[in-house]
Amino acid sequence: MQKVTIRKILKKKNKTPIVCLSAYSKAIAQIADKYCDIILVGDSLGMVLYGMKTTREVKIETMILHGKAVKSSARRSLVVFDMPYKTYSNKFIAYKNVKKVIKLTKCDAVKLEGGKKIVNIIKYLTKKGIPVMGHIGLLPQSSNVFKLKGKNLIQKRKILQDAIALSNSGVFAIVVECVVESLAKKITNSVSVPTIGIGASKYCDGQILVTDDMIGLSNFRPRFVKKYSNAKKIIEKSVKNYCSDVKRRKFPSSQNVYKF
Ligand code: KIV
Repeated sequence: MQKVTIRKILKKKNKTPIVCLSAYSKAIAQIADKYCDIILVGDSLGMVLYGMKTTREVKIETMILHGKAVKSSARRSLVVFDMPYKTYSNKFIAYKNVKKVIKLTKCDAVKLEGGKKIVNIIKYLTKKGIPVMGHIGLLPQSSNVFKLKGKNLIQKRKILQDAIALSNSGVFAIVVECVVESLAKKITNSVSVPTIGIGASKYCDGQILVTDDMIGLSNFRPRFVKKYSNAKKIIEKSVKNYCSDVKRRKFPSSQNVYKF
């Protein structure tokens, strides 16, 4: 088993696609660990697992519990912890919270949302030896609406400048979320670190999806999500069969009983 390191991720730029998925639990982390370079403990868990309206409601304590579960189940992949809303409002608050997160979860890196505005925070963290992943384009912690980014020149220019600023500030990779293809291509060609796309076309150095969306467990189905299975249907069938078995006294059977 060869552990995925930051160095290995950087070396993949313009060479081999970087495979990433989100995970919030032990079961998913164990599976993702066999195939993924990076596992993200995403704050999307607020909406996906807890039914919150936005990721802004997610607390650091909740993320830490999931971070521990994922990291202790992923031996090979690089595990990235998504810093929740308001936990990095300035460089000192950020460092205090990141230190706590790393100490308690043992995650390999953290992810912060934002461009130029948070460059001083990223520089501070990376100088302290914390590996940081950036996140630009659609920023769920700052935006209430799910909307494609980079449709006009002003937005394109701003997001590109954000990407360059992040790359120069020491991040080891940048998540690019929900932007038009031409912008994703321009960003990937303009920065020295790998870009990881989600709804950002094939012109990224890697791809990430929220696992629950990809396996068809969530109800979130934007154009950029490819559904690889219908987990909801599989679970429903199991629940239905179980209920029917209990009602008809077919479960438990002799195979499920302890006899002395
Ligand atoms: O929280 C999350 O799962 C994320 C991905 C969508 C990149 O940030």
